[in-house]
Amino acid sequence: MNTQLTASSLFTDLKSRIEARQARVGIIGLGYVGLPLALLYSEQKFPVTGFDIDRRKIDTLASGGTYIFRITPAEIQAAKLNGFEATADYSQITAMDAIIICVPTPLNEYHEPDLSYITNTAHAVAPYLRAGQIVILESTTYPGTTEEVLIPILEQENKAGLKASRQGAAGDNDVWVAFSPEREDPGNTQVARHDIPKVIGGLDPQASEIAAALYGAIFRRTVPVSSPAAAEMTKLLENIYRCVNIALVNELKMLCLRMNLDIWEIIDAAATTPSIFPGKRRNSTSAPDSSNWPAKSTWPCPTT
Ligand SMILES: NC(=O)c1ccc[n+]([C@@H]2O[C@H](COP(=O)([O-])OP(=O)(O)OC[C@H]3O[C@@H](n4cnc5c(N)ncnc54)[C@H](O)[C@@H]3O)[C@@H](O)[C@H]2O)c1
Repeated sequence: MNTQLTASSLFTDLKSRIEARQARVGIIGLGYVGLPLALLYSEQKFPVTGFDIDRRKIDTLASGGTYIFRITPAEIQAAKLNGFEATADYSQITAMDAIIICVPTPLNEYHEPDLSYITNTAHAVAPYLRAGQIVILESTTYPGTTEEVLIPILEQENKAGLKASRQGAAGDNDVWVAFSPEREDPGNTQVARHDIPKVIGGLDPQASEIAAALYGAIFRRTVPVSSPAAAEMTKLLENIYRCVNIALVNELKMLCLRMNLDIWEIIDAAATTPSIFPGKRRNSTSAPDSSNWPAKSTWPCPTT
């Protein structure tokens, strides 16, 4: 397909295809993260193919149905009219320009990260990669996963000897790789998904630039960081920060119950201080906004 193109023309070709909404977007894992992402790209008229190993999900989508309560059949049917389709056939990866991985990353029985969904996906994708594609991991994971787990499998198991572009100037036989975490705040109905800034850590500057163009088509703001590991750590900081706050307030709530105090009265009053609590920015002197607190319905601590 693109084998006659030089590295520089691969780069400009992919960027212009993204800008023209012609880049073919493949979303792997059509769950709570992947399916809405697929619909966002489809709404923006990108040709989108979803990949999943769950045959029931593929069949449901093929019949214009849905399996996520906040996504209506009408949205699926509108996407299908725009060309959206779902498949379990990984050979279609070759036809994609951008491949975004949104598979689960649960903890195992020892509370260690279970990366088997990521490694299984990498094994399945690698044989079908071609030069000039970008692969982006969105799954929440520990810093180092993209470079130490995903990329080695992609490089070792593709048929064309492809390498992840590392120098800031891709070779003719390179793919670009980035990590960009999903940052949805489950239960928060006040912030639209496209309003949540998209953090992007490319393996090299070209990967960051392509990923920024891709996400810039559906998100209002992109936030570049220096590496995939920096983006992975950013997501962990957000989750840890959130969990610590939720745990703190849960403890205080128990104390308030014993003291016959209303925890929400305390939170609303405390949220007027400029010195602590979510919503305060470094060096900011304005009082934090209590609307930044996790929605009540999401307590106790989520694991996303
Ligand atoms: N759900 C959230 O609100 C949320 C928010 C932020 C981050 N995340 C993170 O995003 C990632 C995905 O979460 P989710 O909630 O969408 O999970 P999910 O379980 O809803 O969906 C994952 C999908 O991936 C599919 N899948 C698994 N292995 C596959 C493979 N090898 N090839 C193709 N498809 C495969 C599953 O069948 C499923 O449809 C996780 O890392 C999660 O921690 C989720």
